[in-house]
Amino acid sequence: MELLRSFIPLPRIVFRALCLITALANAGGNLFLLLFYRPLFELLGVPMPADLYAFTAVSGFSFTVGVLAFLVFLEPEANKSLLIVGALGKAIYAFFTFYFYVFHGIHWFYLTFGVWDAVYSVIFTLFLIQLLSPDLTYLNSGDVFTGLARLPTNKALLLGFSLTDQGRKGLEHIAKGLRSKGYTADIRYVKPVESFFRFPMSLLDFVRMISRAFLRIPARIHPLGIPADHDYDLIIVESQTWMVGMTAPVEAIFQDPANAGIFAGRDAAALNVARGAWRRSQAMIVRWLQRRGGNVVGARAFTHVGWEPSRLFSLWFYLIFRKAGVPKILDGFVQKHYGISEEALAECVQFGEDLAMRKRLGVPARAAGVPQ
Ligand SMILES: Cc1cc2nc3c(=O)[nH]c(=O)nc-3n(C[C@H](O)[C@H](O)[C@H](O)COP(=O)(O)O)c2cc1C
Repeated sequence: MELLRSFIPLPRIVFRALCLITALANAGGNLFLLLFYRPLFELLGVPMPADLYAFTAVSGFSFTVGVLAFLVFLEPEANKSLLIVGALGKAIYAFFTFYFYVFHGIHWFYLTFGVWDAVYSVIFTLFLIQLLSPDLTYLNSGDVFTGLARLPTNKALLLGFSLTDQGRKGLEHIAKGLRSKGYTADIRYVKPVESFFRFPMSLLDFVRMISRAFLRIPARIHPLGIPADHDYDLIIVESQTWMVGMTAPVEAIFQDPANAGIFAGRDAAALNVARGAWRRSQAMIVRWLQRRGGNVVGARAFTHVGWEPSRLFSLWFYLIFRKAGVPKILDGFVQKHYGISEEALAECVQFGEDLAMRKRLGVPARAAGVPQ
């Protein structure tokens, strides 16, 4: 199952186990290194440290990061901020190790620590995102949760933005599921005022989009024109991921004061499409929906088919050539299919059906296929 696949590496227990592993490796490993670096370096052919002070100081610092990881292992929720320090510390260590390996030819032995720390800076960041948004786990669990006890109108509004059609396909399939269970589903795509949010895109468009996403500069969109007293009982918001966050045109829906009242007291759901990194952007949508008074009953995220780094390059090639499976010279590496799978689209239909059939506080459950 597409959704489950994107979840498999992420349960809390796995993150805790990974913290324990690096705690033992950092603390135990550095203690071992400090005590036995002479015979070990002789055995591996590593030159003796030129600066013993720097060597022991780095080892001592790395030992401390092991203690930090152990504290996170013991009480993850109470030590979230330590993960920020750990992720940053490990990223900086990895950066300098790669730099000195490439430009100053340090021994490969040190590179193994750099790779380890680079991997762990990502693991710590992912664990932090999970700890900051524990509700994402149950929202994505495959269920749809209980809705609000308002008069069911069986009308849904689907809001989104899509450059390369992945979000559009997702929304259309959710709408299909909703309609099959008696809902009316209106899809509205936001229209950015700035014209460079487009596909096909020039290199300059891409640079503008990516740099603005990196700096999180808000976008302006044309008014949606939805009054606060609309009769939709369900609103679904879709966003793709840009630079590990939700996209500016979708975020503009929430930032525009004219839309501040449209989610209040309504059931709401989130859909994310991404090459691979969906958690933060989904957390952003869910938080916005909640901040605007929506009752979030479910969330789904779908990632592109393929494996890394193939799907990253396949995305870039698709943005350049506007076609999947090219350049042909990279056959076997570049994905023949761009974007989310057919299986993911079938799950979107199911999500739409489940949303339409959701339980509501104090309202009897609807019989399948019978509009109220
Ligand atoms: C400017 C830009 C930045 C992107 N950044 C990320 C990213 O940080 N992480 C990720 O997983 N995908 C990233 N993607 C990939 C999109 O999230 C992915 O292609 C998505 O399916 C696009 O949805 P759409 O076709 O509805 O626009 C980026 C795409 C673009 C165009």
